[in-house]
Amino acid sequence: MDRLIVEVDENRCRDCGFCIQVNICRSPAQCIGCLSCYYACPYEARSKKIKEIKREYAEIWVDGIRYSVPYPSTIKEALMNIGVAFHHPSTGRISAPCSLGGCWACSVLVNGELERTCIMPVEDGMKIDLNIEGKEPLRIIHGPEPHRVGGKATPWWEVGYGYVEAAIWTAGCNLRCPQCQNYTVTYDNSTEPVTPQEAARMVTACSRKYNTRGVAVSGGEPTLNKKWLIRFFKELRRLNPGKRLHLDSNGTILTRDYVDELVESGCNNIGVEPKAFRVETYMKITGLEDYDIAKTYLENSWNILKYIVDEYSGKIYVGAGIAYNKEWMTFKELAEIGDKIASIDPSLQVTVLDYFPFFRRRWLKRPTVDEMLKVKKILEERGLKTVIVQTSIGHLGPADIKPKH
Ligand code: FES
Repeated sequence: MDRLIVEVDENRCRDCGFCIQVNICRSPAQCIGCLSCYYACPYEARSKKIKEIKREYAEIWVDGIRYSVPYPSTIKEALMNIGVAFHHPSTGRISAPCSLGGCWACSVLVNGELERTCIMPVEDGMKIDLNIEGKEPLRIIHGPEPHRVGGKATPWWEVGYGYVEAAIWTAGCNLRCPQCQNYTVTYDNSTEPVTPQEAARMVTACSRKYNTRGVAVSGGEPTLNKKWLIRFFKELRRLNPGKRLHLDSNGTILTRDYVDELVESGCNNIGVEPKAFRVETYMKITGLEDYDIAKTYLENSWNILKYIVDEYSGKIYVGAGIAYNKEWMTFKELAEIGDKIASIDPSLQVTVLDYFPFFRRRWLKRPTVDEMLKVKKILEERGLKTVIVQTSIGHLGPADIKPKH
């Protein structure tokens, strides 16, 4: 049978060790076509190929029923073959939004242990239980670390007085940004995962140690594993009454119900990053190759940002993020972004990130400070009142004078 596999291009491989230490193959003897390594390799030394392989079958038990499924394959593929549905991640049901091994939203019980279906190979005799209700969800995280600047929705007036937030970063993302600014987290499928309670305790201890006003979760994309995130915020609120609890999201899969549930669970500070105005620009930034998916994600991001502002302004602090580099964005598009945000709320905090060379776009030129000041001016000329630009000399905010603490 024909099978999609991934091959290593030795000429491009730099022996960087990423596939040995961070994004590790779970089926090294036989490729199962999960594509995690294909997306993760910083030097793009992996290529997809259709190969003819001998069709074999493995016997597996799913919820006590025996099935014969094609092998080699991922557990996810085997489950889909027998009719198990993978859902939108906003439902909190089994889904596979990252397919990298980081978010754990695709987990089921495999031989009694919670395990990811997207990167694990099916094996003969495997016993799978789809009901994981009794198990705490898991997720790979990095940190906690204290942060001096925070994210796109960290209130600008809190920054500049020492550590502003204690943060964790969640592995796994549904975007494939070629200049991912945090790729060692995004593509990590090898670190031991933790429960939401463990993560909340860790980041709370960090917040207390460094006396931060806020606690934050960023990524990767934190929203991909809904059960984990909701329980994380509930525990965070229990441990940090009255504190600012910040979610930093790309906004692509958030729904109104999901946002409502997050706020009910204690999240009182949300940043959404639509990144761009035009779909073509968004595709360049995110590495998404499918126009329809990119359009859906971009529109969702803007729509959910508007919903959060309309519904929660004054109750929680909200911010928006834009990804600037002249490689993908013109000043004209920036003006369009300015108009769009002004139509939502001209006083909304907007942080423009100066995307610098990283991951697969090491040739990218970091925007100059002057360029970023021009970006700021363009947005302010469209009526925006709270524009912050990230630059190589730090974040430049809406005013030099900060309110007294
Ligand atoms: S979809 Fe499997 S870990 Fe994210």
